Amino acid sequence: MRLTASELLRQPRDREDGNGHVGRRVGVFGAGYAGLVTAACLAEMGHTVVAAEKDAEAVARLSAGEPTIHEPGLRELLAANLEAGRLKFTTRAEDAVGASDIVFVCVGTPPRSDGRADLCQVEEVARTIAPLLDGYKLIVEKSTVPARTARWIEWTIRRLAGSEREFDVASNPEFLREGSAVRDFLEPDRIVIGADSARARSLLLELYKASVDCPIVLTSVTTAEFIKQAANAFLASKISFINVVSDLCDALDVDVTTVARAIGLDPRIGRHFLKAGLGFGGSCLPKDLSALINVAEDHGVDVGMLREVERINNARIERLLAKIERALWVLQHKVIAVLGVTFKPDTDDIRGAPSLTVVPWLRAAGADLRIFDPAGMPKLKALFPADDRLTYAATPLEAVRDANALVVLTDWDEFRLLDLKLVRSLMRTPIIVDGRNLFTPAEIQAAGFEYYSLGHGDVTPSAERQGTRI
Ligand code: UDX
Repeated sequence: MRLTASELLRQPRDREDGNGHVGRRVGVFGAGYAGLVTAACLAEMGHTVVAAEKDAEAVARLSAGEPTIHEPGLRELLAANLEAGRLKFTTRAEDAVGASDIVFVCVGTPPRSDGRADLCQVEEVARTIAPLLDGYKLIVEKSTVPARTARWIEWTIRRLAGSEREFDVASNPEFLREGSAVRDFLEPDRIVIGADSARARSLLLELYKASVDCPIVLTSVTTAEFIKQAANAFLASKISFINVVSDLCDALDVDVTTVARAIGLDPRIGRHFLKAGLGFGGSCLPKDLSALINVAEDHGVDVGMLREVERINNARIERLLAKIERALWVLQHKVIAVLGVTFKPDTDDIRGAPSLTVVPWLRAAGADLRIFDPAGMPKLKALFPADDRLTYAATPLEAVRDANALVVLTDWDEFRLLDLKLVRSLMRTPIIVDGRNLFTPAEIQAAGFEYYSLGHGDVTPSAERQGTRI
């Protein structure tokens, strides 16, 4: 059954509190990426939200309107909704449950060493909520979890709270992309509501009725859980597909960007998620793919195709490292400017980022590194502190000064807009190894660089390395 949000909007609101607040009272467990954006956006939609987070320092910062993550639009939402009294952060679980009709579970589900999702935090939330139930509550999974996790949440709460307590467990997966999470929440492509009771379904429909016009997919809890994993597995497959194509493009001296644009114009294929390069990282796609593969194996389902998607992705960094060696030969004492350390632009998140592999590898090979990223440097610095062979630059131009090569690991717009002629004049040797196909071979050639990319064929200017200092 599919409804559009505009159909829901035509339904009259049935609730307004004494303070003029329209909407539901919502508790959110976990104020990480998903939890924080969910809490701020639900408050923005008019609901009254209490977000419980164990990290007292994060609670203090958020309560003061200071975002703990780099996410466009979030600071403004925090300020407006804290001020309006619709949003509160607390370390006390009872505050998030007691005053709420709906409780979202947004805690982390990081990968375990065997590739499965670690559900310890989800189980802990279930155990925490159980004794706090004092009337009907709807508990909603927002974290990405393997199919049938809701049943375990329900079983845990039922066991601890007793059979007389009234509650439902539903699934309302998030499809938020870091860097555009606020917009994705407030202007979603679709809303998936997995609920096995009419009461749970209507509560969630009401919660989102002020949302923008988008399709709403109403389904069972298990289906909703699975939809999220299947969506991420498909996105991962699309990226690995274009990366295989890009290797072929390299071999054939064909431009993968043109191929991607042309095939993407077919609506059956679509133009998104066809950017070839270093592959998918971050905290979601790799983890969700691996978790899905494990679930499939538990059920005896052959998912060899998804294993291959994972293998292709894991090989991307080796391919880039081989290109760096091809460009520079011996790396010992070569100065390499690394632009970009986050797993994608517009975030400060370095989880699953290529930089975590590339930086130590280049250091082990003896290179001197000058690193710049607009947002991710503090997090990388905590893992790889600066020393006499590793410096963090204040600007991209400072990073490239006297470098033997420039290596691009993240496709920040700021790098795309660099004055390439100026960059060339600052570098010791004009070599770019582009892990994100940020530049076009034509502009690189015009600026006089030797260019190694993942899917453009390699470009060497006619005056090969002439007049350069090696
Ligand atoms: C992803 C899903 O998109 C989102 O729906 C889900 O809720 C969480 O996981 P996110 O991890 O924020 O979001 O990033 P996304 O924009 O999906 O990119 C994931 C990775 O794929 C990044 O490393 C990005 O650089 C890479 N990517 C993306 C490509 O290599 N090529 C592309 O064409 C698109």
